[in-house]
Amino acid sequence: MTLDVKSLRSVVRGVGSCLPKRSVSNAELESMVETSDEWIVQRTGILQRHVAADGETTSTLASGAARAALAAAGCEPSDIDLIVLATSTPDLTFPATATLVQAGLGMTQGAAFDVQAVCAGFVFAVAIADNFLRSGSHRRALVIGAETFSRILDWNDRSTCVLFGDGAGAIVLEAEPGTGAVADRGVLTSQLRTDGRYRSKLFVDGGPSTTKTVGHLRMEGREVFRFAVGMVSDVVEAAFAATGTTAQDLDWFVPHQANRRIIDASADRLGIAPQKVVTTVQMHANTSAASIPLALAVACADGRIKRGHLVMIEAMGGGFAWGSALIRW
Ligand code: UT7
Repeated sequence: MTLDVKSLRSVVRGVGSCLPKRSVSNAELESMVETSDEWIVQRTGILQRHVAADGETTSTLASGAARAALAAAGCEPSDIDLIVLATSTPDLTFPATATLVQAGLGMTQGAAFDVQAVCAGFVFAVAIADNFLRSGSHRRALVIGAETFSRILDWNDRSTCVLFGDGAGAIVLEAEPGTGAVADRGVLTSQLRTDGRYRSKLFVDGGPSTTKTVGHLRMEGREVFRFAVGMVSDVVEAAFAATGTTAQDLDWFVPHQANRRIIDASADRLGIAPQKVVTTVQMHANTSAASIPLALAVACADGRIKRGHLVMIEAMGGGFAWGSALIRW
């Protein structure tokens, strides 16, 4: 069958996730840094996070999520011709973690590459894969967000080490004819932004070309918080404007899971009803590029997100980089 590229849509066929076996409670962190369960819960909503063991890496978690998404989609690795993997914690400086996943799945066809947009990485990866699929150049994509942030945390810095976790989530996107209308299934719009002036507010203080080390995550949390709600609201409103939809039309709002207070404040500002908000930060903490697909996997598995539902994803993080995508499931 040849496809009419003018009206192609990238439709979600399946979702999957993979978490490290070990979960770490707030109480366990109390023995490592001067913090308390009460502070972490009140300021962030986080109850626990998963932390990768030595043998668990970004690529092994990503491969687990990819296999689960393929199974949910009823696809084989041989059906995939594109892997876009968002991560800031690659297994190696090169090659791309996506190629490790490709090899792990036994794939020799197609193209696989990484995307680096920190916490907004999954939204950027969805937008990139969507553009490849709608151009007609590729047919079926695995879009993955995978991280092992535990490896770049300064475990002596209580202002950051309690906030992050490890994990991976993935979706299978497939090009399918649409009508161009907002009733189509698939990615309806994506809105991406960056502003490099904010680099010092959230960054890693190392890298191959500067320190020749991996470095540690550094964040001015209060400053990031100050920008987060406004930035994510702007890109969500841009997605509404691009599609002629409103907050009332949404079935589910699946934001980046950094902080319960940012999630609640964003939904409130956008006029999105609390019962439409998918929140998993309490279980996973902030898993950067993995947080949205992990939340999607939870809300699909428990039956909340169903075929035909209108789902808004959004994220903001280091760079700053931020974005949104509106998807009809
Ligand atoms: O995913 C990328 C985007 N990242 C984010 O969205 C993170 C955005 N920022 C946040 O989520 C919040 O700013 C934090 C959770 C990081 C911090 O919450 P906050 O309400 O902004 O607290 P704060 O930074 O203003 O710190 C309040 C106090 C400080 O003490 P003083 O100066 O008031 O005496 C901190 O030293 O809390 C102290 N503190 C802690 N106390 C116990 C900082 N970390 C901890 C800790 N345990 N782990």
